[in-house]
Amino acid sequence: MNKQEMSDVLAKYNIKSPLTGNDLTEPIEFNLMFATQIGPTGLVKGFLRPETAQGIFVNFKRLLEFNQGKLPFAVAQIGNSFRNEISPRSGLIRVREFTMAEIEHFCDPNQKNHPKFESIADTRLTLYSACNQMDGKSAQQISIGEAVRNNLVANETLGYYMTRIHQFLLTIGIKPECLRFRQHMNNEMAHYACDCWDAECLTSYGWVECVGCADRSAYDLANIHKPLAYDWWQRNDAKTITDALSKLSINDVNDVEQTLKDKQEFILNLENGSEFKLTPEIISVKHSTKTVHVEDITPSVIEPSFGIGRIMYALLEQNFQCREGDEQRCYFTLPSVVAPLKCSILPLSNNAEFNPFIRQLSTALTKAELSHKVDDSSGSIGRRYARTDEIAIPFGITVDFDTLKEPHTVTLRDRDSLKQVRLGIDEVIDVVKTSLSEELSGLKYLKIPRI
Ligand code: GLY
Repeated sequence: MNKQEMSDVLAKYNIKSPLTGNDLTEPIEFNLMFATQIGPTGLVKGFLRPETAQGIFVNFKRLLEFNQGKLPFAVAQIGNSFRNEISPRSGLIRVREFTMAEIEHFCDPNQKNHPKFESIADTRLTLYSACNQMDGKSAQQISIGEAVRNNLVANETLGYYMTRIHQFLLTIGIKPECLRFRQHMNNEMAHYACDCWDAECLTSYGWVECVGCADRSAYDLANIHKPLAYDWWQRNDAKTITDALSKLSINDVNDVEQTLKDKQEFILNLENGSEFKLTPEIISVKHSTKTVHVEDITPSVIEPSFGIGRIMYALLEQNFQCREGDEQRCYFTLPSVVAPLKCSILPLSNNAEFNPFIRQLSTALTKAELSHKVDDSSGSIGRRYARTDEIAIPFGITVDFDTLKEPHTVTLRDRDSLKQVRLGIDEVIDVVKTSLSEELSGLKYLKIPRI
């Protein structure tokens, strides 16, 4: 609806504010993009980008050259985006400035299959389809192979990226039971998308969209890379008009030509039931015979789009835990892959005899490229364990009085299970390294114990 149509509906049904019964103001036009002035004179108007994607689309030609002119190829970018949210709220969830990471996968619109699809086809995702939402049904667990076969998910490439998003979120520590993909209903789909699934994470604010995965079809390239041809179509219904024109048969086109000649206008019926007046100033019919050696296509775009702040928020909330029976002892179960520090070194006390062993362990961890922290502050060892747990360090190595004796040994402690094992000082770093790499390769997710 345009502004006037909205106003008419509000008046017709005498719509009031639901909470207070107050009158509503007239609808106002509102730009979701922040306007600004560019340059010293301030005469050039600019807008802050509402998504990172556009920078990739305007560079499409060059990016295609980088890929030897071949499709498909994908480009990724991370950066800040800005949206003039009407009402920022929910803490860090709905903000006006945020970090996005977007992938634009360009492919032939007639070949949206993906060469690696078979390798992930059996992965089961929780899908909450538009139909199930309409029918009041719940989400369903289904393999992505079946979802694409049943046309629930539009094509293999979209399904492939949804599965990779699922794998990525689980790898960084989102809980499988707190993750689902919700399909956009027709009335909420962005203007550029023909199918869209949001990866939603469960938080204390409810299900929150953290990653969008959209089939943008040819929307962006069709608009950006033919600016001259579309100059006069700068209207809300430009796409509807071009769609209607592209569907005309040769006979219809002849009819348009004749009517324009006779009456200086042609009334084009649009799919939405409205009409548009074509005149000779805005359209002309040219006849030509063309031998086709190459086919012109406008590539389609599949776009996974990650809201980094929201993912971080869901990750921290879902991984915040308290030790059973002791609410004061909180910790984060972040997987090692995202834990900023992988290991702590904890001398039992500040006895100077521990120092050479602390240095030996620290050097070995640095050599193994494992970020770590030595906590030799005063305080009980229990307090220091609690402190490393609070900042999500997955492993702790304790140096104690037994370490001083031959053979030199230390204790390795696992943050989540609290299990401890006694190991030789020369082998402990390898054990940490192996456990971390098992986790990175997904073995932890398959419930193989770390120690
Ligand atoms: N580019 C996807 C989004 O802005 O939500």
